[in-house]
Amino acid sequence: MWGGRFAGGPSALMREINASIAFDKRLWREDIAASKAHVAMLGAQGIVEAGDAAAISEGLDRIAAEYAADGVPEDPALEDIHMHVEARLTELIGPVAGRLHTARSRNDQVATDFKLWVRGASESNDRALAALQRALLARAEEHAATIMPGFTHLQVAQPVTLGHHLLAYVEMFRRDRSRFADARARADECPLGSAALAGTSYPLDREATAKALSFARPTANSLDSVSDRDFALDHLMAAAQCALHLSRLAEELIVWASQPFGFVKLGDDFSTGSSIMPQKRNPDAAELVRGHSGRILGELVALCVTMKGLPLAYSKDMQDDKEPVFAAQDLLEVSLAAMAGMIGSVTFDTARMRAAAATGHSTATDLADWLVRVAGVPFREAHHITGRAVKLAEERGAQLWDLPLAELQAIDGRIDASLFDVLSPEASVRSRTSYGGTAPDRVIEQIAAAKAALERDA
Ligand code: ARG
Repeated sequence: MWGGRFAGGPSALMREINASIAFDKRLWREDIAASKAHVAMLGAQGIVEAGDAAAISEGLDRIAAEYAADGVPEDPALEDIHMHVEARLTELIGPVAGRLHTARSRNDQVATDFKLWVRGASESNDRALAALQRALLARAEEHAATIMPGFTHLQVAQPVTLGHHLLAYVEMFRRDRSRFADARARADECPLGSAALAGTSYPLDREATAKALSFARPTANSLDSVSDRDFALDHLMAAAQCALHLSRLAEELIVWASQPFGFVKLGDDFSTGSSIMPQKRNPDAAELVRGHSGRILGELVALCVTMKGLPLAYSKDMQDDKEPVFAAQDLLEVSLAAMAGMIGSVTFDTARMRAAAATGHSTATDLADWLVRVAGVPFREAHHITGRAVKLAEERGAQLWDLPLAELQAIDGRIDASLFDVLSPEASVRSRTSYGGTAPDRVIEQIAAAKAALERDA
């Protein structure tokens, strides 16, 4: 493809370090689509004769059919997917194939192909995230009123509802979807027609190729077009943040499935046994989701470091842009699917969750709030009185609601029997009716709102 000015060929090592076909063959669909858009425009503009443009386009269709049926045959001498397609086109239709590369460079070609691929990956992530949200919402609906302990510092803090806890992740994944959507919106400009770096002297119609490839518009600066990989970085940043959310949910499932917690039993479909300990039931899928998140973050860092300090315009370092994105995407896809599967089949031990919510004096805040609301005590003083009640309960090895009224009144005379109405975990969650709060009524509203939002953008 570029041999004209060389007397000798590249060494075997040069070929080896140069070749990207082993991974960039994943771009074949995008490469052929971009070539078809390009040649149709060349034909329409009279840059290539209409008959030649048609022959090239038909040849590209035949290559697409071959690749779809048999995969991309790899020839390391042909470097990358762009050269593979062009070489095969030459075999199929002869020297007229050489007209395809008019007014184009592999630099704008690869930027276009990769952007198209990333956009497709982002759309597929959006669908996978919506499926995960739906799985979470279904379980939240079942458990809108199920009591569990809410934690801070992984210490029992206040009772919450399981539905509310699951909805927290629905929110995280909603933001992840909007991050991918933002990235897609910024990537909505087509680099094709920027050529090597400076643009071209041919009378291109870049609006037409942009439109044919469903971009909103062509990119505005040819130097930026061939050296910009923000779209890949944006995608990886969204992926890393999504993976981070997945890792938190995975971690909770792992902790909840442990015997001391016993909050959940993961389905057989997402558990593994041990080859030596017959009793074991391990949360491997959740652990791998947690593990994959570290690798996804690593791929983001890898591409940041590759791009850092690169002068304009294209440098071959940028060929290393694809593997981090492909790897992260593969890891994220399997993680999202596995998480949706786990959420679908996990069994919640609601009795154990309820029992755990009744430990750690989880309704102490309710006692303090009662003192403020009913007895008119300033909150700081109420906090102090409640602390004494907790201390007494601890000495007795009892919970607050087990303390006799007389002993509570000995701590503060303003306490009366109506206090006991607010001390149970059920009363506690029922009272948390502030917008976004854990009360079952609020949770049911939040589920309805989340479902409506899902349907709106479906
Ligand atoms: N395989 C190359 C890549 O992925 C295509 C662009 C090559 N351009 C060049 N000037 N060598 O980046």
